[in-house]
Amino acid sequence: MMSEKSARGRSAMGDKGASVAVVNCGELVTLAGPARARVGRELQELGIKKDAALLVLDGRIAEVGSYNDLRARFPAGIEVVDAGGRVVMPGFVDAHTHLVFGGDRVSEFVQRVGGKTYQEIAAAGGGIVSTLRKTREASEAELADAALRHADWFLRGGTTTIEAKSGYGQTVESELKILRVIAELKERTALRMIATVLAAHVVPPEFKQDRAGYVRLVTEEMLPAVAGHMLAQYCDVFCDEHAFTVDEARVILTAAKRRGFGLRMHVEQFASDGGAQLAAEVGATTADHLEYTERAGIDALKAAGVQPVLVPGSVFALGRSKYPDARAMIEAGLAPVLATDFNPGSSPMTSMAFVISLAALYMKMLPAEAIVGATMNAAASLDMADEVGSLEPGKQADFVIHEFRDYREIAYYVAAPMRPQVYVAGRRVA
Ligand code: NIG
Ligand code: FE
Repeated sequence: MMSEKSARGRSAMGDKGASVAVVNCGELVTLAGPARARVGRELQELGIKKDAALLVLDGRIAEVGSYNDLRARFPAGIEVVDAGGRVVMPGFVDAHTHLVFGGDRVSEFVQRVGGKTYQEIAAAGGGIVSTLRKTREASEAELADAALRHADWFLRGGTTTIEAKSGYGQTVESELKILRVIAELKERTALRMIATVLAAHVVPPEFKQDRAGYVRLVTEEMLPAVAGHMLAQYCDVFCDEHAFTVDEARVILTAAKRRGFGLRMHVEQFASDGGAQLAAEVGATTADHLEYTERAGIDALKAAGVQPVLVPGSVFALGRSKYPDARAMIEAGLAPVLATDFNPGSSPMTSMAFVISLAALYMKMLPAEAIVGATMNAAASLDMADEVGSLEPGKQADFVIHEFRDYREIAYYVAAPMRPQVYVAGRRVA
C-alpha cells in the first residue's frame, strides 16, 4: 500500500509545516526513547523535562531542551509561544476509530437506557446493520460533512492522528465510497489519518443465508479493489459471536496479508472464542477489544508480538463492567495501546483524555502507562513511531499544550472541559 503510506503525515496545509518556539513548558512530556512500542517498566518512563523549551522548524521538532540552551538558536522573528508553565506533550494517537458513517444511533441509545441490550437491538435489525443502511444511502459529501464535524472534535480534544476504518458499507462500491471519503478528509483536515478496510464488520442482510458468499466477495472482489486503488493500509475483521467466526476471519485475513495489507482485528469483545489466538496465528499487528481474553490468548499475543488495543470507552458506553485485563497484559510484557473505538453504536466518544481516565479507574493503568498507550505505543501500532508519538528532534511537531501542570491530572480530572492548544506540524489547529 505504498502510496497510502507515503501520503501519511501530510496535512491540509501542505507538506511543509510551520516554525515556532514553545517556551516555559512546566512539564515537557517527551516520551524520548526507542521509536518502537514500549513494554514493562518503559511504560512508566515519560522522559519529562521540567521548565523546558521546544524549537520547531518547518513543522518538525528541531530541538528540545532548556530555554537558556535553545534561545541562541531561535531564528530571528520566529513566533514564540509561552506555555505558561503547563504540560506540553505529543498529540494523542487514536489507533481505533470508525470515523465515517451515515446517521446516528441516538434512538438506540435511548432504548438501551430503557433497558434493552446492545445485542437485543442488533438481533431486532438495529445495531451495526442500521448504520449500514444509512451509510449505503448517504452520498460522499454527506459522509464527509459528518466526519469533518467529528474530526474537529478529535483535534479539539488533543488528538492529532487517528486510524479510521470503513465497515459500514459491506459492498465493494460502498466500502470504496467510505475509503474515498477518508482519503478526501486527509486533504481537508489537519488530523492525520491511516485508513483500514474493515471488510468484515457484520454479515450484511443480503448474505444472511450465504455467509461463505460474503467471505468470497471480500476476498475475491473487495480486497483486490481496495488494494488496486491503494485506499487502505490495514485490513480488519470483527471476529466474535454474532459477527465472523475464527475460521471465516482466518480466510479473509490470510487473503488480505497476501495482498500486502497489515492486519488488525476486533476480537473477544463479547465472548472468549480464540480470536486472540487467531490474531497471533496470522501475525496481526493488533488485536483490539480483548474484554474476554484469557491467559492463553494473552500468551499467544506475546509470543507473536501482537499489540493489544484496549477500548474501555466502548465497555463504559455500553454500560458493561467487564474491562480487558490490562494489568495481566502489561505483566506478560505486551505493549498496550489505548483508543476510543469512536463509532455511532458502542462508543460515541472522541476524547482520549476520557479514555485515559477510564483506563486508570477501571483497568488500573497508571497515568504514565495510559499516556504511553495513547501516544508512542499507538503510533508504533500504526507503523508511525518514527514520525509521531513522542517529541524528539526530527519528528513531526504534533503537540498539545494542556491546561494542567502535572501530566497525571489528565487522568485525574475526569471529563474536564479542557481547551488544549493543539498543534499539527507546528501550526495551531485548535
Ligand atoms: O468496535 N465491535 C464491533 N464494532 C464496533 C461497534 C460498531 C457499532 O455498534 O456500530 C466496535 O465496538
Ligand atoms: Fe471498533
